[in-house]
Amino acid sequence: MGKVFFRRLLLTASVAALLLPSFALALQDGQCLTPPMGWNSWNHYGCANLSQAVVIATAKAFKTKHPANWEGRSISLQDAGYNYVNLDDCWGATARDANGKLQANTAANKFPSCTPANGGMKWLTDSIHRMGLKIGIYGCAGTRTCAGTMPGGFDNEVTDAKSYVDWGFDLLKYDFCNVPASQYYNQVLYVRMRNALWAAKGMQPHSGPLPITFSICEWAWNQVKVWTWSDTIGHLWRTTHDISANWSTMVGIIDQNIANQTWLYSKKGNWPDYDMFEVGRSAFDPSSGQLYEDQAKTHFSIWCMAASPLLLGNDVTTMSDAVFNIITNRELIALNQDSLGWCGMRRRVSGNVDVWVKKLSSPDTNLQRKWAVTLFNRGTAAASNIAINWSDFGETTASAPYAIRNLWTHTTLNGTYTSNYTVASVPAHGVVTLLFQRGGFVGVNTPGTAAKRCDARVAMRRGQQGVDMFIPVSNSTVQIFDIQGKELASFATTDPAWYPVKSQARLNRTCLVRVKTPSGMLVEKMVLAR
Ligand code: GLA
Repeated sequence: MGKVFFRRLLLTASVAALLLPSFALALQDGQCLTPPMGWNSWNHYGCANLSQAVVIATAKAFKTKHPANWEGRSISLQDAGYNYVNLDDCWGATARDANGKLQANTAANKFPSCTPANGGMKWLTDSIHRMGLKIGIYGCAGTRTCAGTMPGGFDNEVTDAKSYVDWGFDLLKYDFCNVPASQYYNQVLYVRMRNALWAAKGMQPHSGPLPITFSICEWAWNQVKVWTWSDTIGHLWRTTHDISANWSTMVGIIDQNIANQTWLYSKKGNWPDYDMFEVGRSAFDPSSGQLYEDQAKTHFSIWCMAASPLLLGNDVTTMSDAVFNIITNRELIALNQDSLGWCGMRRRVSGNVDVWVKKLSSPDTNLQRKWAVTLFNRGTAAASNIAINWSDFGETTASAPYAIRNLWTHTTLNGTYTSNYTVASVPAHGVVTLLFQRGGFVGVNTPGTAAKRCDARVAMRRGQQGVDMFIPVSNSTVQIFDIQGKELASFATTDPAWYPVKSQARLNRTCLVRVKTPSGMLVEKMVLAR
């Protein structure tokens, strides 16, 4: 009897929670429009070795120029785009202070300068901000953090949010350990912290941008899956369990994302967090059991394709050229930071090889023009002759000419190719990542056709017939595609207005909207209905 009642209660609660996101307001607060790039202390320093000395040394290393790279340029991590220095667990004292606030662990080997007299953790945020960098902090939705050494935020959300905001942190990673089991089926604890972050600035919910980049870290543990609600609450959402520095765990994370097709739910300002990098945690020694160079390139490539945050996890104060060249490969980073905000997906499988594709923003009128493809070889032997067909990225004109560039060897192939291109060899556990650009890499922009920013005003909202879409251009034709390239709807506009779009389940997710204007210009935009 009790069991039946409990099951019914759970069912009702789950159904109610499932319905919740449909009515919730999307956060979409104009922040985090590309995945954040930076570093997090956990993978290398763990609990015991995190200290202010480590954080400051890391920030200095962000600014240190490394010897010349493949382009003959001497750049720093900051030059490559990394700017967040993020503390993970174990920065705080074991107990709250007399006023119930979190406080730094001021032991000599931890954060000795973060005393109350120095403003607590503000001493550290000021130091990092003075260096022109951003700094993130870690908290936990349960009663203790995951390492257990410091208090969690449960029932103290308002106090803790105020501390994080007053100290001047730029990002909050909020974990999910030691949470009462009654909270496993909903997102309430994250809503509480989100609202507390607004309240810390005296703001009502949804009255403006969140004062801090909010990183949801509940490993897809909740029974109502994080990708169905994260965009109403935060900017980043961990998709899986924790990574560790070995091949099988890293591939396990890729596999779990494939199984859940997390790319269907990702969008600008709300990125799938595949977890921090293990690149460079060890010498690239294939006998070490840790990631070797080809495996590390796979790790970096898939994270870039997937539009995951790029958070380094190694000791950046001492790095080999090989590690530095992977994590600062600007051609790969450009895929991750692409302004369209499309999340790459595994399109198909060819033997041991996954074919991942990511649509990129294109500056001219041909909208099927720019794609990245990563061939990822899961096998322990090199894979030969893997064909990439234009249909893999939705090009309908088989004869369309594409220029191709290899983003790891930094070489452009001669001439252009039509209908397909065969990659001779993909290394064992490695990748080949290629950029495809229709028409060629030089002189492809037709003068006078640069996109007007009308795309910024395409929007979706819930309407009586399912979804309404605002199209700001008169007399245009509009096409809507799902992220896999399937056309969901098309219609013509007369005036700039909201247009009802026939209800389609998939319109609840991220869509690509193409608007063809009377002058023949094509503009595209990723949108999400909420
Ligand atoms: C959890 C998180 C990790 C890390 C640790 C710290 O396991 O998923 O990323 O923050 O807690 O204890």
